[in-house]
Amino acid sequence: NQDQLKQLVGEAARDEVLKLAAGQVLGVGTGSTANCFIDALAPHKHHFSGTVSSSNATTERLLKHGFKVLDPNDVDVLPTYVDGADEIDPAGHMIKGGGGALTREKIIASMAKQFICICDASKQVAVLGNFALPVEIIPLSKGIVTQELAKLGGTVSLRMAKDTRADLGQTPSQPFVTDNGGWILDVAGLKITNPLGLETQINQIAGVITVGLFAKEKADILLVSNVLGVSRMT
Ligand code: A5P
Repeated sequence: NQDQLKQLVGEAARDEVLKLAAGQVLGVGTGSTANCFIDALAPHKHHFSGTVSSSNATTERLLKHGFKVLDPNDVDVLPTYVDGADEIDPAGHMIKGGGGALTREKIIASMAKQFICICDASKQVAVLGNFALPVEIIPLSKGIVTQELAKLGGTVSLRMAKDTRADLGQTPSQPFVTDNGGWILDVAGLKITNPLGLETQINQIAGVITVGLFAKEKADILLVSNVLGVSRMT
């Protein structure tokens, strides 16, 4: 099942990062697949001098395992970032943010020299857009950003706390609030044939904090699991 596939790719990512020279800082992503990676890596935590984390949930998990979690502002060189994705296309462009951590994920991805994406084969698509595109916004810009995003042709909805996968203890009937105090608009029904162009376009809208389209910060290495095992693509 899918949980086993996530575990399988989490272990493959552990093997991949243990090939890196010891003593580096490692960027760690967010989500159920990233959690499998964290758990698999825990016995080897001393291979790394520390980690930078992409969310409060990941920080909590890393600390529980005894990893050192560093402030990104104190990190000069970040060779590698490992994270999951909601969708990935053949060029390595991704949709991320299903778990709401897109902004910090993109910051850490931009710091990192290489992005290792880990997922099961259900995340691979020919064209991005089946998964609703998450856009984190400043709450008071919801009206205007919704209008602007609707012009792209999709259906825009405000993510509510009850719609999140993780139970973060937020009031179900209220908007979901990110780690940064932002809200998330999910844009369904897009067919993203030009990921870099769309990322740039959405970044121009005032009120947008981050779009969950990772075209500029795309994956350099993809580890993907299916029933036959894990394949590695660059
Ligand atoms: C978190 O905000 C996301 O970007 C995750 O990386 C993505 O949603 C993948 O999560 P799963 O591994 O739980 O599917």
